[in-house]
Amino acid sequence: MTARVRKAVIPAAGLGTRFLPATKALPKEMLPVVDKPAIQYVVEESVSAGLSDVLMIIGRNKNAISNHFDRVTELELNLQKKGDTQKLERVVKSQELTEDIYYLRQGDPKGLGHAVLRARAHINNEPFAVLLGDDLIDARESLLTTMIDEQEKRDATIVALMEVDPDQIHLYGAAQVEETDDPDVVKVTGLVEKPAKEDAPSNLAIIGRYVLKPEVFDVLERTEPGKGGEIQLTDALEELAADDSIAGGVYGVIFRGRRYDTGDRLDYIKAIVQLALDREDLGPGLRPWLKDFVGDLD
Ligand code: G1P
Repeated sequence: MTARVRKAVIPAAGLGTRFLPATKALPKEMLPVVDKPAIQYVVEESVSAGLSDVLMIIGRNKNAISNHFDRVTELELNLQKKGDTQKLERVVKSQELTEDIYYLRQGDPKGLGHAVLRARAHINNEPFAVLLGDDLIDARESLLTTMIDEQEKRDATIVALMEVDPDQIHLYGAAQVEETDDPDVVKVTGLVEKPAKEDAPSNLAIIGRYVLKPEVFDVLERTEPGKGGEIQLTDALEELAADDSIAGGVYGVIFRGRRYDTGDRLDYIKAIVQLALDREDLGPGLRPWLKDFVGDLD
């Protein structure tokens, strides 16, 4: 049995170029999905899976993120005076999620693998989760908890996998897998970062949730830049998948639930519509309007 995962790492140092000019002065992680910044959903997911120690790897120009998870006394007093408890609750929620948020600057953005390696001193020698902010997992799902349970049970590295359209696999890390006796868990025997459709070992894509073992840091230290000239986490995991003796191999938890991609503009718009439709305060107003609007489209 290994130690239960307690810590999460959230890389938030991407440049967000797909959303320019919105991300010229604003970190992409702060773009609102309905009325909450994307990164708040991710921290909420982490905390509700029991991981309240959160390390964010941030880049330049990311002070808005730390401000968001801090108090804003002036605003709070103002809302208190007005007796607007509903808004006050929304304001303090991000700060009250956890007291244990830590920030580390990545320096040069040299890729996801490099960002994760920066977490080494904070994580030390225990298993930990990595959550990527472009993928939002619906709060009603328990993907991360399942992955943590599998990590504990198998003492291995765990990635979240989801079937995607083969035309989309070039946007993801793709996994070569073998069945296990659990239909929702596969053994990962190989990984390729963003392969062309014809080179992909399957249409099982890594979605942005990982439960890693500290051995990954040694592998990342020696991982050469890969796709896009960046140090890829997928390449380090490929090494761990190829040799079970390093850290017990890699397993994939197949996710079939609700996931919202906020990584590009089109998916971001879809995510907002889907999440808003589900909301009690906005759904009833949006639904009939949307039906009408769609009915009028040709
Ligand atoms: C990263 C990873 C990729 C993974 C994806 C999930 O890519 O490198 O393996 O499939 O996240 O969202 P990015 O989307 O940051 O380019």
